[in-house]
Amino acid sequence: MADTMTAGGGPATDVAGGGAAPPALEVRDTRTGKSYTIPIVDGAIRANDLKQIKSGPDDQGLLSYDPAFLNTAACRSKITFIDGDRGILRYRGYPIEQLAEKASFLEVAWLLRHGDLPTQTEYDAWVHEVTYHTYVHENFKKFLEGFRYDAHPMSMLCSAVAALSSFYPAAKDIFDPLQRDISVIRLIAKVPTIAAFIYRHMKGLPFVYPDNELSYSENFLSMVARMSQPKYKSNPTFTRAIEILFILHADHEQNCSTSAVRSVGSSQVDPYSAVAAGIAALYGPLHGGANEAVLRMIEEIGDPKRVPAFIEGVKKGSGRLMGFGHRVYKSYDPRAKIVKHLADEVVASVGMDRDLEIALELERIALQDDYFISRKLYPNVDFYTGLIYRSMKFPTSFFTVLFAIARTAGWLAQWEEMLLDKEQKIARPRQLYVGSAERPYASTLAKVIVTPARN
Ligand code: ACO
Repeated sequence: MADTMTAGGGPATDVAGGGAAPPALEVRDTRTGKSYTIPIVDGAIRANDLKQIKSGPDDQGLLSYDPAFLNTAACRSKITFIDGDRGILRYRGYPIEQLAEKASFLEVAWLLRHGDLPTQTEYDAWVHEVTYHTYVHENFKKFLEGFRYDAHPMSMLCSAVAALSSFYPAAKDIFDPLQRDISVIRLIAKVPTIAAFIYRHMKGLPFVYPDNELSYSENFLSMVARMSQPKYKSNPTFTRAIEILFILHADHEQNCSTSAVRSVGSSQVDPYSAVAAGIAALYGPLHGGANEAVLRMIEEIGDPKRVPAFIEGVKKGSGRLMGFGHRVYKSYDPRAKIVKHLADEVVASVGMDRDLEIALELERIALQDDYFISRKLYPNVDFYTGLIYRSMKFPTSFFTVLFAIARTAGWLAQWEEMLLDKEQKIARPRQLYVGSAERPYASTLAKVIVTPARN
């Protein structure tokens, strides 16, 4: 007869006639004939509850196998909500559309970390702190000058942010709230400065120091673009576009780079090192590198007249329509709608160009083609961001750096949530070992240098 147990190991309660049973999963192991009742909480079972399911006394218990975490929740989070089927993105409950229209990036950065919008006093103090920590140590300039001018800017950013940890050794005291506060302020304040210095290094231009009278986005543009003028005046359309793109990219729950930050941070390393790990993950072409790929695709197409042939090629499998499709959004990416309007505004300010014509034609044709409709492939956030950055004259390789500046806010909020979550421990996935069984060592080399054994 089959045993019936709760996930905790006790006998299952017969709830017939005793009110509604708590939600649970009833499973039967065909290897043993035993049945188990595994509680379902918040739509999930605990993978650890599977451990009790054993085929015999030597079995260490059932594992769940989930390469790439396709269906595994690794944390409880209150930060970002996504409903991919309905095209919904909310930070701390606030719809992304409302934040993009009405909030400032620093307000959103505060919201992500603290859970609620700041009061005026909190906001003023936060803006003041960030503004007055934008300078980097003078040694940092020498450090950046050590990079080759044509190194990829993401590679420079990743190393530079990791190096910040060497300037602030006290940051490793991560359970001291004051140390966490100052690290968060420093990272949000200094990443744009480092990014701008990298841009100037790539161009062979002198570094421009932060201007404390400017807003976060204006100051960034000033450090990037200021030449001999005593006071930088940015194009207001560009400043607003940067501010909105920073808000749209500030967080996106448990994506590859955020998981990297949480995973590395779970070893209790300092936040500079954890954020550097996030930058490394974002650098990859399957993640933050997609906006760069969209621009390269548009350059390759070269003419709006070639768009139909390009789309036909994609349908036959010769490549992908970059900037289309998303793992989570199976209807329109809500960020893409906002970015499309923004691209219209930026283009109205600089004039229509051939790249945008190609993008509009790609979108027009793809959105009425059954191949894309049936697969629920819609433009994602990266389809138009590259065009905006290009209109603002940023080099293509720099696009992901702009993404990283914004995502720093989300990474830090997620890092701190992980750190203060009592359920979290050092991240340590399991594996299914599929290699050789034990075998004796027998060298196949003719000559081996062996360190002599000590007497
Ligand atoms: N162009 C053409 N066909 C596509 C595309 C595309 N962009 N995306 C998916 N498909 C097709 C696939 O070939 C597949 O077709 P099939 O069922 O006939 O085999 C089907 O749609 C499903 O594709 P998957 O690869 O299974 O979808 P997945 O969810 O794994 O991939 C991804 C999502 C990686 C974003 C994919 O859509 C893609 O490669 N897009 C282009 C790259 C891109 O824009 N990435 C940016 C994402 S946004 C971000 O990271 C900020």
